[in-house]
Amino acid sequence: MRAAAFTDLSGPEGVSTIDRPDPEPGPGEALVDVTACAINRHDLWILEGDSAMVDADDLPFVTGLDVAGVVSEVGEDVRGVEPGDRVVLCPNETCGSCRFCREGPENMCERFALFHGGLAETACVRGDRLVPLPDDVDATTAAAIPTAYMTAFHMLRRAEVGPGDLVFVPGATGGVGVATVQLASVFGAETVGTSSSAAKLERVRDLGLDHGIESTAIDEIRDGVEAIGTPDAVINHLGGEFTRLGQSVLRRGGTMAICGRTAGNESTIDVTNLFLGHKRVVGSTMGTQDDLRRLVELTTDGELAPEIDRTYALADTDEAFAAMQERESVGKIVVEP
Ligand SMILES: NC(=O)c1ccc[n+]([C@@H]2O[C@H](COP(=O)([O-])OP(=O)(O)OC[C@H]3O[C@@H](n4cnc5c(N)ncnc54)[C@H](OP(=O)(O)O)[C@@H]3O)[C@@H](O)[C@H]2O)c1
Ligand SMILES: [Zn+2]
Repeated sequence: MRAAAFTDLSGPEGVSTIDRPDPEPGPGEALVDVTACAINRHDLWILEGDSAMVDADDLPFVTGLDVAGVVSEVGEDVRGVEPGDRVVLCPNETCGSCRFCREGPENMCERFALFHGGLAETACVRGDRLVPLPDDVDATTAAAIPTAYMTAFHMLRRAEVGPGDLVFVPGATGGVGVATVQLASVFGAETVGTSSSAAKLERVRDLGLDHGIESTAIDEIRDGVEAIGTPDAVINHLGGEFTRLGQSVLRRGGTMAICGRTAGNESTIDVTNLFLGHKRVVGSTMGTQDDLRRLVELTTDGELAPEIDRTYALADTDEAFAAMQERESVGKIVVEP
């Protein structure tokens, strides 16, 4: 089978199409003919050599978390799916025995890891991580859902966002950003989001963003948000200087959920503002398989339409990563093996 592999960790030019032996499913595993696999900034970190998880010894490395396709074979002890089923993968890998695996939420598993290997014609995955797809959700749409929408959904719930709330989304145009805007609207909340690009913001307005601020300057963004209102929640996937900004505009008792570090791994907190304002800052990673099921249901019911910027052939996976690196896209980038 063919796979799009990272053969060096220098950026998009380090992606090559390679041949690999067809995988054989072991006990509990299923093979999926991959129709579509979305990419995430997590994969780009790896490709840029900026991930502790993968180094030169691991090359060639096939990434790809968000797999959707058709089950072609199942190993022993696989229940619930069979060859021919259309499925989407929950990329969570959990130990099954720690207190969070036993009592939930599973994404807090003490040995939490993620599946990698979807940028290939066939993926060998855990059968119990497959969620069936209804006929009216196509594989490309389904592949857009797992990482970005599960993460956004989980953060909105951790921040207890509800009807009438105002949610601030710095960086509203990417995978997690657009997912947050769309899901906040499903929760009945209003959104204010930022981008460096007026054209991209305009597209996110069409997807439900209520207020757009075209700026990368922290003080200008703060003034822009304050002119609109006082956010009840901040969904922060950028980190860096956006953390202090998010904290300063957040209402008394509000929650900022953080899941990423695109703008930097170091942030400062105004401690006095935090305690006098009774504010909460929570870390959040991915979501649960049950979250994924609900997101597939919302998509089936027409309440959610995951946004796909562009699709790429497997051989053009380098171009897909270049588009992410160049900040060209709105929503998800999906490869179709
Ligand atoms: N913990 C988890 O479970 C989890 C899950 C998913 C994602 N994440 C993290 O969340 C972040 C977003 O992931 P994603 O896949 O949604 O990425 P993405 O699609 O590439 O995000 C693009 C967004 O980030 C903004 N952006 C890019 N570079 C920036 C910079 N240097 N400074 C400020 N803004 C910048 C873009 O703004 P413009 O519109 O101005 O271009 C755009 O809004 C990443 O840090 C990722 O690792 C974490
Ligand atoms: Zn566990």
